[in-house]
Amino acid sequence: MMNKAAELLARSRFAVAFTGAGISAESGIPTFRGFNGLWKHYRPEELATPEAFRRNPELVWEFYRWRMGLIGKAKPNRAHLALAELEKMGVIKAVITQNVDDLHREAGSRRLIELHGNIFRVRCTSCAYRENLKDSGRLESFLREEKLPSCPICGSLLRPDVVWFGEPLPVNALDEAFRLAERSDLILVIGTSGIVYPAAYIPRIVKDRGGMVIEINTEESGITPIVDIFLMGKAGEIMNELVKRIGELMK
Ligand code: OAD
Ligand code: ZN
Repeated sequence: MMNKAAELLARSRFAVAFTGAGISAESGIPTFRGFNGLWKHYRPEELATPEAFRRNPELVWEFYRWRMGLIGKAKPNRAHLALAELEKMGVIKAVITQNVDDLHREAGSRRLIELHGNIFRVRCTSCAYRENLKDSGRLESFLREEKLPSCPICGSLLRPDVVWFGEPLPVNALDEAFRLAERSDLILVIGTSGIVYPAAYIPRIVKDRGGMVIEINTEESGITPIVDIFLMGKAGEIMNELVKRIGELMK
């Protein structure tokens, strides 16, 4: 199966990757669902909805500052690095991610579509102000503060620039992801439960247009019924092996 997957990728014309929280599990970032998933310990409707933020911004900011700190210490793992490597080799044309953790960018992926935002960005709830706390060098001081963060332009409350339950996805990112899926002949799906829409449409678009679906996951997911090849196991281990075999095939 691994050899077959390597061959299909090496021979593909326009392959894209679609990733979820499972690709970052080996970097020490908890996934949302499954054993020990975040949503086992916390209720998303109290932490990740616009209503929750209106009701209790202190609690929501406490949760996001905690996650920012955790994610800020995490490093890309072999799966992120392998995807960046495959892009350099010309095998993968783009990475479409549901993750907000920035690890694909840190690993060197260039064409990256973030469907659910980025946890290191904040934006104003009133004006157009946006800031990337990593780029502005303010992440540490931001995490140390306990009071609610306010906009340097208009003084209104800042919020994390991520997509919450019940909110639309950023239009440009979703458009680009759909366009990529429509022209792609192979999608490599890694570490997602594949049940959160509209993101979960993406592999289905590729499939409906006659493309191949290869999935890597430690267990079956919502995508598994439509896959051509299922590689069961940890993303880091499997991607490491896959990139080696593709490299040999392309020599
Ligand atoms: P989930 O937590 O729903 O799913 C993680 C998937 O990764 C599961 O299918 C696991 O089996 C798999 N997995 C865990 N460890 C793995 C490993 N080491 N290697 C490979 N696979 C592994 O995360 P997502 O599918 O990303 O939404 O969740 C989708 C969306 O729901 C998230 O983007 C987030 C969440 O609520 C928003 O923030 C809007
Ligand atoms: Zn403002």
